[in-house]
Amino acid sequence: MMKHIPVMLDNVMSCLGDISGCRVLDATFGAGGYSRKFLESGAMVTAFDRDPNVAFDADKFANEFGNRFRFIAKPFSKMSELDEKFDAIVFDLGISSMQIDNPERGFSFRADAPLDMRMSVDGPTVRDMFEQWSVADIVKILRDFGDIKPAVAIAKAIKQQMPQTTFELRDLVHNPRDVAPVFQALRIALNDEIGEISRALNAVPGLLDIGGRCMCVTFHSIEDRIVKNTFRDWTSPHGDPHLPSLTPPQFKLLRAQTPSGDEIQRNPRARSAHLRGVVKSY
Ligand SMILES: C[S@@+](CC[C@H](N)C(=O)[O-])C[C@H]1O[C@@H](n2cnc3c(N)ncnc32)[C@H](O)[C@@H]1O
Repeated sequence: MMKHIPVMLDNVMSCLGDISGCRVLDATFGAGGYSRKFLESGAMVTAFDRDPNVAFDADKFANEFGNRFRFIAKPFSKMSELDEKFDAIVFDLGISSMQIDNPERGFSFRADAPLDMRMSVDGPTVRDMFEQWSVADIVKILRDFGDIKPAVAIAKAIKQQMPQTTFELRDLVHNPRDVAPVFQALRIALNDEIGEISRALNAVPGLLDIGGRCMCVTFHSIEDRIVKNTFRDWTSPHGDPHLPSLTPPQFKLLRAQTPSGDEIQRNPRARSAHLRGVVKSY
């Protein structure tokens, strides 16, 4: 299985600056590439991940870094339950190489496996959801999260054939170019990825200390749009435009970045990444 290579980590580090002694929340622990860098830079790290398969690595971090590292095996939207402040909150969204490359997880159409697609291990699989979702539900998922033109034909084929495996799902999609977006759309819906991001971002302003930064690495246009619009909202003045004084924005926008050509060459999985960030000014 391919080791996960952290994406845009150098860009994230240069946006964060000196984090020695800072409290950093790593919302997406994964293989721990980001957390390791934060810890080696002298930060204290609280890390979330909802995939229980990463707990083993997280235990190793706890042994290595002692009480400077804490792992919370929950969806990152649960950060809203924390009652403390952070100097940085970092999201590296999507799925890890370990998840996509492990055929048993059912994320990839390149290996035949049961259609699972759960990021955690509880709750229904995408196979189970094919029983519950109607044709209209599947059409909406394919359109909203995959921008798939033949959404109706694919949704009907899914309900008729009830695919049990990744290859059965792949084979009912006629245009090979639609296969990856179909898998992506179903994964986003099953894991409520958009709801998770929205709920977590809602919690960020209350969790960040003054001067604190929130950085997000996104991998597709739907999650990128949410981050972009949320950050735009936080960095715009608020109030009635007809009254003389608007409330100045609480956040300042950092320049958006994409990976360098070098990084994309070293790690093709970086190619669709976007990094966005904000700083809390008061
Ligand atoms: C791209 S990987 C992160 C890789 C990590 N930055 C590294 O360098 O190793 C994304 C990770 O976020 C986790 N994840 C995605 N959505 C999540 C959510 N809503 N709550 C918690 N973890 C989530 C996935 O399980 C996966 O392990």
